[in-house]
Amino acid sequence: MKTQHIAIFASGTGSNAENIIRSFQSESDLKVALVISNRSKAKVLEKAENLGVANAYLPKEDFEDEELLLGFLEAYNISWIVLAGFMIKIPEYLVKEFNGRIINIHPALLPKYGGKGMYGQHVHEAVKNAKESETGITIHLVNEEYDKGKILFQAKVVIMDSDTVEDIQLKVQQLEHRHYPEVIASHIRKNRS
Ligand code: GRF
Repeated sequence: MKTQHIAIFASGTGSNAENIIRSFQSESDLKVALVISNRSKAKVLEKAENLGVANAYLPKEDFEDEELLLGFLEAYNISWIVLAGFMIKIPEYLVKEFNGRIINIHPALLPKYGGKGMYGQHVHEAVKNAKESETGITIHLVNEEYDKGKILFQAKVVIMDSDTVEDIQLKVQQLEHRHYPEVIASHIRKNRS
């Protein structure tokens, strides 16, 4: 069984990236081979380094450079891309090249609370301000439009009136950590060539 190499793209803390790397360390057919960030100081790069995973900072313009990025991914035999808090819109060439093989997680129940500008705390603030009784996560394939690709998985959590934005963020993060690795693994195992 050929090991499927995964690249994680992340811009921030990297708690999901770390969780995914650790989850796949015990899977012989799945390997996070590379972590790329568009922010040189992103904590996710430190986490990858500490976990012995190749990692790189690429400035925003490098993500637009098709030859550079595809060459870089090929050098690591990357077949799948996982976004874990990645703040740059995926360029069209990459969506085409990795059609059906780019997975993202959104910290809300799409199609609500999605689209441009809806990321991180902004999402949870909007959910709280709307007095929603529940929120959750959406794991979906990435296409040309923000947060519009095929939904693979959703999970919900109840919101109490007393919940702060921080409480909501923590509840959602628990769902992310519980479900993202298994949804990625299941999608890859169902669709690998
Ligand atoms: C998560 O909330 C995820 O849903 C969103 O970006 C955040 C990444 O958090 N896409 P972390 O850096 O993995 O802790």
